[in-house]
Amino acid sequence: MPLQQSDAPPHATRAASLETRDLTIRFGGHVAVNAVSCAFHPGTLTAIVGPNGAGKTTYFNLISGQLKVSEGQVLLNGRDLSALPASARTHAGLGRAFQLTSLFPNLTVMENVRLALQSRQRVGLDMWNVWSHHRALIERSVELLESVALAGKSNVQAAALPHGDQRKLEVALLMALDPEVYMFDEPTAGMSVDEVPVILDLIRALKQRRDKTILLVEHKMDVVRELADRIIVLHNGTLMADGEPETVIASPVVQQAYLGLAPLEDAA
Ligand SMILES: Nc1ncnc2c1ncn2[C@@H]1O[C@H](COP(=O)(O)OP(=O)(O)O)[C@@H](O)[C@H]1O
Ligand SMILES: [Mg+2]
Repeated sequence: MPLQQSDAPPHATRAASLETRDLTIRFGGHVAVNAVSCAFHPGTLTAIVGPNGAGKTTYFNLISGQLKVSEGQVLLNGRDLSALPASARTHAGLGRAFQLTSLFPNLTVMENVRLALQSRQRVGLDMWNVWSHHRALIERSVELLESVALAGKSNVQAAALPHGDQRKLEVALLMALDPEVYMFDEPTAGMSVDEVPVILDLIRALKQRRDKTILLVEHKMDVVRELADRIIVLHNGTLMADGEPETVIASPVVQQAYLGLAPLEDAA
């Protein structure tokens, strides 16, 4: 079974939860994601880096089901999800931040979080259950909103939030779903400097749980350096490098892509 193009990294001690095999999509003649085979492991945060247009978001779209693959497969715990729509993949345990707030822009921040929590919990029919469940739901919602510094805006309509707060709500909704695989696509993009640490703290806390498979697309190399257990590099839709952060950061392909130092041919 092809795990990935390079050897499995030393930290990959547990079985992969998420795996892509030869994942490919073409837009007309352009191959945006080109035969990417990669396995992601619980307890590991993998940073996905690469220049603009490298195919990082498209790779996420193929995994989450927003886009249909031209070729290849997406597997979660060995189960092929490639034919499933995005909603079924979310249900199966693939969590992606961006698709969530757009669902209920007219509801309040609190209502959005409660709905996300309810979507993964079944409320029993007897009244005691409904009542105690309701209380637990409110408590958990408040906790989640506090964790993203949005508790003060519980009653604001989601659509009325400033951009940075909307991004924080997206992360809170993802946390509410508590998927097996977390996918963050530039989660702090467009945030003010004081908002960024809130999100990074959350991702850090998530990582410390050691049971989640975390994928993070991130441009800021200091963030990548701090959070990543492993880095993969996409370039022109192709997986160019995969390994320990220090090794990958020092590699010619990353130096070229980010710093323009070495010609790419030297890195191939
Ligand atoms: N729906 C689409 N139709 C046509 N081309 C697309 C579409 N989505 C992405 N692309 C192209 O695929 C390439 C990769 O884009 P993207 O995944 O957004 O890159 P990244 O997230 O790494 O910046 C780009 O050349 C982009 O223009
Ligand atoms: Mg992108």
